[in-house]
Amino acid sequence: MNALSEREHVDFLVLGGGVAGLTFALEAASHGSVLVLTKRQRSEGSTQYAQGGVASVLGPDDDFDLHIQDTLVAGAGLCRREAVEVTVREGPDRIRWLMSLGVELDREAPDRLHLTREGGHSRRRVAHAKDTTGREIERALLAACDARGIRIEEDHLAVDLVTSGKAGIGGPSRVLGAYVLHRDTGVVSTISAGATILATGGSGKVYLYTSNPDVATGDGVAMAYRAGATVANMEFFQFHPTCLFHPQAKSFLISEALRGEGGILRNAAGEAFMVRYDPRKELAPRDVVARSIDAEMKKRGDDCAFLDMTHLPKSFLLEHFPHIYATCKEFGIDMAAQPIPVVPAAHYQCGGVVTDLVGRTSIPRLYAIGEVSCTGLHGANRLASNSLLEGLVFGRRAALRAADELSEGSGPPPHIPDWNPGAALAPEEGVVVAHNWDELRRVMWNYVGIVRTQKRLERARTRISMLRNEIRDYYWQYNLTPDLVELRNLADVGMLIVECARQRKESRGLHYILDYPKSDDRWLRDTLITRGDLE
Ligand code: FAD
Ligand code: SIN
Repeated sequence: MNALSEREHVDFLVLGGGVAGLTFALEAASHGSVLVLTKRQRSEGSTQYAQGGVASVLGPDDDFDLHIQDTLVAGAGLCRREAVEVTVREGPDRIRWLMSLGVELDREAPDRLHLTREGGHSRRRVAHAKDTTGREIERALLAACDARGIRIEEDHLAVDLVTSGKAGIGGPSRVLGAYVLHRDTGVVSTISAGATILATGGSGKVYLYTSNPDVATGDGVAMAYRAGATVANMEFFQFHPTCLFHPQAKSFLISEALRGEGGILRNAAGEAFMVRYDPRKELAPRDVVARSIDAEMKKRGDDCAFLDMTHLPKSFLLEHFPHIYATCKEFGIDMAAQPIPVVPAAHYQCGGVVTDLVGRTSIPRLYAIGEVSCTGLHGANRLASNSLLEGLVFGRRAALRAADELSEGSGPPPHIPDWNPGAALAPEEGVVVAHNWDELRRVMWNYVGIVRTQKRLERARTRISMLRNEIRDYYWQYNLTPDLVELRNLADVGMLIVECARQRKESRGLHYILDYPKSDDRWLRDTLITRGDLE
C-alpha cells in the first residue's frame, strides 16, 4: 500500500535516510513537520555499509590544524578552506552527539575511544564501531527518529523536483517540492514543501564495479541538474583501492583500516609493490594507491592485487575486523592465513550539487547534504572517513538554516500541478532498460575510469549522448518504473562526469588524464555545470 496520499504538504521534505538525511530530520523536527523518504528499505544506503569510521580530532596527539592540513593536502588544492574548517572544528561535538543517541564506538579505555588510522591521516583519528561503523550509526539514528515520531516512508522514489517555473509561478525560480513514485503501486504523489532537502547519497552505480549499494544511482545530482541547480567537480570520482575480488562477492569493501593496521599490498608474485610507487606506501592517499594497483595489474597482466594481513595475529584480526573476516571466510578466504584478493572500484562522488556552508544550493528552498552535495570539503580527492563527518556536520547546519528560513515565513503552500503521465503506456521492453543500464556502466568503466584520455572521453560522450536520447524517448512513451527513473538519472550523471572531465585539461587529485599528466595552476578552480551545458 502507498503510505503517501496523492497530495501532501510538509515543512521539510527530506529525500534520503542516510547519515545526512536523518541528522537533518532529527535537528529539524522541533521546528516543523518532517517527512523522510527512502527509495528502498529505510536503512539501505551507503551509510549502512561504512566500515572504517568517522574521522575527527579526538586523540591526545591531534589538533584541528593537523586534520585541516591533511584534508587540504588530500584535496589537492581544490578544497574550500571554510568548509574544511567548519567540518573539522565541529567534528568532536558531532561525535559526542552520536554517542548521546546511543552509538556504541569502540574504546581502548572506559574514558577513551579507540582510534584507527587510514591513508592520508597524519594521526590516528578515526572513531569506529569494529568494522561496521555505518551500521551502528544508521541503527541509532533510525531509533532516535522513531523515538521522536519522525515520519519515514520507505519505497518512495523522488522522480523530479518541482520548480516554481514548472508550476507556472512567475518570478525567480525556487523549489516547491517533488514528484514521488511509489515502488509497488506505481502511483506518483505530489509533495509540496517549505524546504526540500536532497540527501540522496552518491552515484557509484554509474560504474560497472563499485563498492556502493544499489540505491547509489545519483538521483539527487540528476534531479538538481535538471531543475537548474549548479553542479561541480563531477570528474573527481574516488576509486577505493581495495574491494574484494571474487566472482560471487558483489561490491564488498575491504576497509582501508586494514592497511592502517599494517596490511601490505602484494602483486601475484608476492612482491610488496607500493614502495615502488610512493614513499608513504600503503598509507598514501587513495587516488595514489588505486592508481598504483591499477598500474601494477596492467603491467603484469594480473586480474587483481592481494592485501596481506597474515603477519598479524588472528586474535587481532577477529577483534578489529570481525565482519570482514567472516565475509571473506564465506567466500573461502581465511585472511589470517592467506592474502585477500582485491581490486579498485568506484566508491565516492566528490563533486555534486554546489552548496554554501549551510547546505543551500543555487536554487532557493533546495538544500543538498551528504554525498550528493559539493560543499568544498573534499576538493579533488576526499580524505578517508571524512564523509560520515560531513553528513553529520552539514545535516545539522542545513537544518538550523532551513528552520530559520521557515520561521521567516513562506506564505501559503503554492499549488503544484499533478504529475502528468502524458500518453504513457505499460512498459513492455524491460530488456531495453537493462541493456542500456549495462552499456552505460561499461562505457563509464572502460572510458572514464581511474586513468583517462581525451580520446576515450570523447568516445564516452558520443555513446552516452546516444543513450540519453534513447532513454528520453522511452521515458515519455511509457509509464514510470523505478528502473527507468534510475537509468535516466545515471545517464545524466555519466554525462556530467564526462563533461567535467573533458573540461579539466590537467591531472589533479582523482582526475588523471594521460594527455595532461601534470597539475596546472591555471586549473585551480571548480568545474561548474548548469542546465543546458550538456545538450
Ligand atoms: P546514503 O547513506 O547513501 O543514503 C542515501 C539515501 O537516499 C538512501 O536512504 C536512499 O534510499 C535515498 N535515496 C536515493 N535516491 C532517492 C530518491 N530518488 N528518492 C528517495 N530517496 C532516495 N565514509 C566514511 O566517512 N567512513 C567510512 O568508513 C566509509 N565507508 C564506506 C564503505 C562503503 C562500502 C561505502 C559504499 C561508503 C563508505 N563511506 C565511508 C562513504 C559514506 O558511507 C557515504 O558517503 C555516506 O554514508 C553517504 O551518506 P548520505 O546520507 O549522503 O547517503
Ligand atoms: C574504508 O573503510 O576504507 C572506507 C572509508 C571511507 O570511505 O571513508
